[in-house]
Amino acid sequence: MSDDQTTADEKIKRIKRLAMVVCICKGIPLGKVLPAIKACDNVADVNRMAGTGTGGCKGQRCGPRIKMLLRKKHELQSDDSKTTETASDSDE
Ligand code: FES
Repeated sequence: MSDDQTTADEKIKRIKRLAMVVCICKGIPLGKVLPAIKACDNVADVNRMAGTGTGGCKGQRCGPRIKMLLRKKHELQSDDSKTTETASDSDE
């Protein structure tokens, strides 16, 4: 498979992932929730920013998804800080 095809496939996967609905009640896709995930550290703030958690189930279905996304963000941030610490350690 060529690099162009791989890139196109990756873009299609990314678009599908971003179109995935996080809040079923309000029909709010991941693409709209991600900026709130990046900016916030708890579900309540994400709900305020993205409009999730205000549908019929009051966040029973989207709340756990948002929690999981926040946990993944924190894991990635801690991995980044470990990498940065390791890189700065080797600079000394
Ligand atoms: S799925 Fe988000 S409020 Fe119900």
